[in-house]
Amino acid sequence: MGQNRCVSVGLVGLGRLGRQHADNLAFRIPNCRLTAVCSIKAEEVEEAQAQLGVPYGYTDYEEMLRNKELDAIFIASPSSYHCDQIEKALAAGFHVFSEKPLGLYMEEALRVQEAVHRHPNQVFMLGFMRRYDRSYVYAKRKIEAGAIGEPVLIRCYGIDPAQAMPGFLQFAKSNYSGGLFLDMAIHDLDLARWYLGAEAQRVWAIGGSHRHTELAQLQDAETGAALVQFAGNKMGMFVAGRNCAHGYHIETEIIGTLGTLRIGTVPEKNQVAIMDGRGVVRECANGFLERFEQAYLDEGIEFVRAILEGRQPEVKVEDGVLSTALGYACKESFETGQLVEVTT
Ligand code: NAI
Repeated sequence: MGQNRCVSVGLVGLGRLGRQHADNLAFRIPNCRLTAVCSIKAEEVEEAQAQLGVPYGYTDYEEMLRNKELDAIFIASPSSYHCDQIEKALAAGFHVFSEKPLGLYMEEALRVQEAVHRHPNQVFMLGFMRRYDRSYVYAKRKIEAGAIGEPVLIRCYGIDPAQAMPGFLQFAKSNYSGGLFLDMAIHDLDLARWYLGAEAQRVWAIGGSHRHTELAQLQDAETGAALVQFAGNKMGMFVAGRNCAHGYHIETEIIGTLGTLRIGTVPEKNQVAIMDGRGVVRECANGFLERFEQAYLDEGIEFVRAILEGRQPEVKVEDGVLSTALGYACKESFETGQLVEVTT
């Protein structure tokens, strides 16, 4: 790490989200240097190196892991690579940040959990960035202060904008995404565990593809719903989708014994109301990069800070394993039509 206490990071994946992380790591995160970038697409590597002033570029991940100047690896590659890349980076002695989901299958998620436990002195963090979003953090603090009594039910909507469908289809066709529940609902499943302070026990999930029927050919759903029973008789209702006409709709409600909190009930872009021939219009956030820009930055800041302070961040590998178990149970229920017990 050197005496100047600066963390040297190698980033893998320069796609929709990786490029945002690259900008943050290069310019916005204190005590951090983006030293290397890696993608299987050479043109992405060259472009990022030129635009962000990154000294090393790779099209081979394992070659990047041999760079002795690096302290940490930041993984934003497609989900099917996460587990393998995490294990290799840990084995090579690096601190590791990985995008969600931890894994697409329970076996690999459990294998990674063991690998993380074998390297307790290396920081591991999973990209559940909503836990760093200012509104979600504020809601958590309110709950901890007793503002709504005991949280007993959570209702979540996570629906991608319809206009992002071409990009999503490209993403889903080039690499297995895990399907609607593991790819999209996973953030809400993690938030439910966080806010309710309870683990999921059983789930019933349904779904369908009505506008883009090719999603059904990918064994996926365009819109899905899951009803989850948590320990202590707590409840979760989840709607996930990819076809939101008005934009990126991320909404969360937490009902407690003494009150209710709602986050993003109307998913406004900002505070501006446009009054014109259409009436009074509040525009909607357009996608994850816009809605969670601050959260992506703050999770990166936390990762680097945890390395410098020699501690583990709040989002742990166990959160990845347990949310994957729940996401997988949702997927299994959707595919079989059965009520599914959640097991790890
Ligand atoms: P993408 O498909 O746009 O980009 C993937 C990138 O990885 C591309 O640069 C591609 O060339 C590179 N790549 C593919 N295979 C590789 C390999 N074997 N080695 C090195 N590089 C490789 O994907 P996107 O949307 O950026 O998603 C990346 C990850 O981030 C996914 O796991 C996804 O689930 C997650 N994600 C998380 C979000 C969040 O809100 N936390 C939002 C969007 C994505």
